[in-house]
Amino acid sequence: MAKMLYSVTMSVDGFIAGPGGDMSWMTEHLGPNETVDEIIGQIGALLVGRRTFGGDDPYKGVEEKEGKPFGGGWDGPQFVLTHHAPETQIPGTTFVGDLATAVAAAKAAAGDKYVNILGASTARQCLDAGVLDEILVLIAPVLLGDGVRLFDRPGGANVKLERISLTQAPLATNLWLRVAR
Ligand SMILES: NC(=O)c1ccc[n+]([C@@H]2O[C@H](COP(=O)([O-])OP(=O)(O)OC[C@H]3O[C@@H](n4cnc5c(N)ncnc54)[C@H](OP(=O)(O)O)[C@@H]3O)[C@@H](O)[C@H]2O)c1
Repeated sequence: MAKMLYSVTMSVDGFIAGPGGDMSWMTEHLGPNETVDEIIGQIGALLVGRRTFGGDDPYKGVEEKEGKPFGGGWDGPQFVLTHHAPETQIPGTTFVGDLATAVAAAKAAAGDKYVNILGASTARQCLDAGVLDEILVLIAPVLLGDGVRLFDRPGGANVKLERISLTQAPLATNLWLRVAR
């Protein structure tokens, strides 16, 4: 059965996007990463928040990579969470209006591979619903000061995590964690 993974590049101060969803900060931190290559081969489907789907792209201006998952490194079914599905169809992309339906559809499509989650709000809802299995954080050596947090859970509550691995890539430190149950 598919596992749900939130994989994301994060600043040292805990942001995954800058103010207003800016992703230009990330461009200089993209580079070879064996852990990411390993994960990409194990992803069967994406669960994507609408703000990520229509949002800024660290590959902006790079024609062959812009607008593509993992800069074109992955291809497959995408399930986009939104309350406002567009009328025009996008091949390979399914717009879904609630989390439970989206998770079930993405898991079915992923088979025994990962459903990779893109978007902080989407990941937080998966965590709160008890369906998030793993988190892979690529820590980039930068402070952003403001923006979209890895998880924003006002009031706070402890979530215990178990380390799967800690690896070093040339431009990032990879921390791979399992959500303890
Ligand atoms: N650093 C990285 O590696 C990385 C990776 C991915 C994304 N990002 C960044 O993260 C930011 C996006 O994260 P985010 O937390 O702001 O938003 P998000 O999770 O990408 O998307 C949130 C949107 O998804 C829809 N949605 C969420 N939950 C829903 C539900 N239960 N039912 C129906 N629709 C639902 C809503 O869209 P509607 O308003 O259309 O209903 C909501 O506004 C972007 O700036 C993106 O670039 C960074």
